[in-house]
Amino acid sequence: MRKGRIGVVGSNMIDLITYTDRMPGPGETIEAPDFELGFGGKGANQAVAAARLGSQVMMVTCVGDDMFGHQQIQNFTTNGIDTGHVRMVTGKPSGVAPIFVEPSGENAILIVKGANAALSPADVDAAEANLSQCDVILMQLEVPLEVVYHTIAMAARHGITTVLNPAPASRALEVPRLSGLSFFCPNETELATLTGLPTETEAEILTAARQLIGQGIGQVVVTLGGRGARLVTADAVQDIAPVKVTPVDTTGAGDAFIGSFAHFFASGMAAPQALTQAARYAAMSITRRGTQKSYPTAQEFAASGPAA
Ligand code: RIB
Repeated sequence: MRKGRIGVVGSNMIDLITYTDRMPGPGETIEAPDFELGFGGKGANQAVAAARLGSQVMMVTCVGDDMFGHQQIQNFTTNGIDTGHVRMVTGKPSGVAPIFVEPSGENAILIVKGANAALSPADVDAAEANLSQCDVILMQLEVPLEVVYHTIAMAARHGITTVLNPAPASRALEVPRLSGLSFFCPNETELATLTGLPTETEAEILTAARQLIGQGIGQVVVTLGGRGARLVTADAVQDIAPVKVTPVDTTGAGDAFIGSFAHFFASGMAAPQALTQAARYAAMSITRRGTQKSYPTAQEFAASGPAA
């Protein structure tokens, strides 16, 4: 497989993960059995998943000028990610995410953007010479929307495949400004929020996805949790089968899916095949605790079973 080049224009956070038997009610204090501090943020997670699988990855992101900012840069370097376009913002804290994980593996997440809110189109311009050498550029919505629109337009000028994971969903996202985007990857809830359409049934999901395609988006990948994923193009639909595992911690599973999809696609696989491998990678990640900590290396992934 060829070594793909991936650019991530997105966020980084420090994850403050509390493992709890149940969520506290309003005004209630309860004791939780365990806590972990880890590296997270949807952009950084996707970058780390792709890098661990062997892609050449560069990150365009902002960190705060605090202890966490320095640790984030060190973590990128440890994972072999190019930090030439990671900007430390004076006087801003790094992004953090308090996360609560229940025994079922289900999670609830708060994000405090911190320095991520300072990422700007100028940062993308400064990185354009490097980004223009990438096979795939990944984006999410934990940074200002103007950065996302600007990156899509830049990538379109260079003919680069773009992937947008619209998480966390924002009603402020202007779909017409995503025109030229190659892959849009929402879950069912995000798809409903962004289109204003119901997504309860398979037929409704298809209608909502096709509405986006009608607005200039190339292909839509709807992630369906335990039901797998669905790849929708203008004239075809393909279901990606789920991989059944017993979840321990689902935090960052969506990012494992997107980051590994970018890796497999940039390595030369067709989209359905790349998505099938991504489903396997994400499933492995939820059998372990933590966010980036749970992402397998290429060797671990290869040892887990045959490629499709
Ligand atoms: O998708 C999981 C991620 O969402 C966590 O790592 C957290 O930082 C938030 O960005």
